[in-house]
Amino acid sequence: MKLFTVGPVACYPEVLEEMGRQMFSHRSDDYKRLHRETVALLQQLLETESQVFLFSSTGTGFMEGAVRNCVDAKMLCCVNGSFGKRFADVAASNGKTVEMLTAPLGEPIHADLLDDRLLRSRDVDAVAITHNETSMGVINPLQKLADVVKKHGKLLLVDAVSSMGGTEIKVDQWGLDVCFASSQKCFGVPPGLGMGSVSEAALKRSAAATNKGWYFDFTRWERYQRMEGTPMTSVIPQIAGLHRILTLIEGWGGKERYFETYRERNNRIRAGIQESGLTLFPKKGYESPTVTCVNAPRSVDGIEIYENMRDRGFELAKGYGEVQHKTFRIGNMGHIEFDDIALMLAALGASLAELDRP
Ligand SMILES: Cc1ncc(COP(=O)(O)O)c(C=O)c1O
Repeated sequence: MKLFTVGPVACYPEVLEEMGRQMFSHRSDDYKRLHRETVALLQQLLETESQVFLFSSTGTGFMEGAVRNCVDAKMLCCVNGSFGKRFADVAASNGKTVEMLTAPLGEPIHADLLDDRLLRSRDVDAVAITHNETSMGVINPLQKLADVVKKHGKLLLVDAVSSMGGTEIKVDQWGLDVCFASSQKCFGVPPGLGMGSVSEAALKRSAAATNKGWYFDFTRWERYQRMEGTPMTSVIPQIAGLHRILTLIEGWGGKERYFETYRERNNRIRAGIQESGLTLFPKKGYESPTVTCVNAPRSVDGIEIYENMRDRGFELAKGYGEVQHKTFRIGNMGHIEFDDIALMLAALGASLAELDRP
């Protein structure tokens, strides 16, 4: 089966090989070296001097940590899909008061609307933004949104689960206080590791926070980071796998080159979709560089296309949430060759010819 999924995605063979090695203690010198180098590689990728933590959880753990450490009472969640909604749910379930700024499905959050909302909601402690809304295949204009949040002096918490490693993120220049992702998306590593940057301002807020729990207490993570470790057992195989892919990216010509490969994969998929006569779900100009969300033909359920493509040896992704039946999604994260894109598009053409009959 060739994977064009939205996570977990196909892993690089070099990553799987690295993860198959024998274990060692997470308090050993070997681990300390692995930890130190992986953090440095991630700091380079994200262009940040902030701390980068390696959580023994998926990205949602980091999301919960961001809420518990950085929000005293109230936050504003920008919602244009299921994962923005998840941020709001996580905050509410942790007893925070949540305001939402919502955009219609398929559309991004616009900076002027965020500015307007923050003028009226002056008492929020932080703003949450989903950089790449995987459910709708929409990328939000993070840099512009971050400018607005900084202008209002709020902490900015960014879910970059399906963008980090696949497209540019400049944590320090853009002013992102917490920016997290999961191993099983653009890095092409199996699930289980959440990684994220945490700014000085976020650490300061954490130091004053009460009722922030134990597992995701940023100040505890910072203490262990100084010892080149994690408070609990580190997910060593995933960290070793991440170290391997980040080193490979360096060897392939660096992050810009790697992002260019992502763009090229994405462009080829979009061009193929257009040639098949299909259209994209997101508003023009805001299409995700890592997940292509496609409108199913009027007479065909998106899930039928997903099932039919599985029978042909290609695992795409079903539509999500409210547009589950009207769309289907094609991921371009992880280990994907250009030749496989051509084969997948040919199979999609055959699938549509079979299913889309008047
Ligand atoms: C944008 C976004 N946020 C959060 C998540 C949840 O990540 P995890 O399952 O790693 O906790 C996902 C997973 O698909 C996602 O795409």
